[in-house]
Amino acid sequence: MENEGRRKFLGVCVAGCTVAAAAAAGYPVLRYLAPRSGQGGAAKLVIPAGELKEGDAKFFEFAGSSAVLIKTSSGQLVALSAVCTHLGCIVQWVKEKQQFLCPCHGGQFSTDGTVLGGPPPRPLAKIPFTVTEGNITIG
Ligand code: FES
Repeated sequence: MENEGRRKFLGVCVAGCTVAAAAAAGYPVLRYLAPRSGQGGAAKLVIPAGELKEGDAKFFEFAGSSAVLIKTSSGQLVALSAVCTHLGCIVQWVKEKQQFLCPCHGGQFSTDGTVLGGPPPRPLAKIPFTVTEGNITIG
């Protein structure tokens, strides 16, 4: 009778440890597989206008995605999604050509996001912004 009580107690201990181990191992997997909740980027972002020289691009995280602000060589500001419309790679800024180049399949975009070449089916999405008192407010 005493042995049966011990067996039951040990069985409960082993079951409890198994459940705890499974939860500890499964939680990171579930977190990895769960869809993003939009975290990781501000809904509004302020960038000092003086931070950007003509011809330069500034990449940043906006609303959970990669975005870019450029100041063209003619001084025009443009804010775009940096996510390629082909398969979602992040485009790179090629200052010498004043173009965006997608490293994945060679998609090319102009400073206003228009497709210049490669497989992307649509232009880069524009992001609204305002300029007040020397600050660029994105979003
Ligand atoms: S993902 Fe950009 S060209 Fe394919």
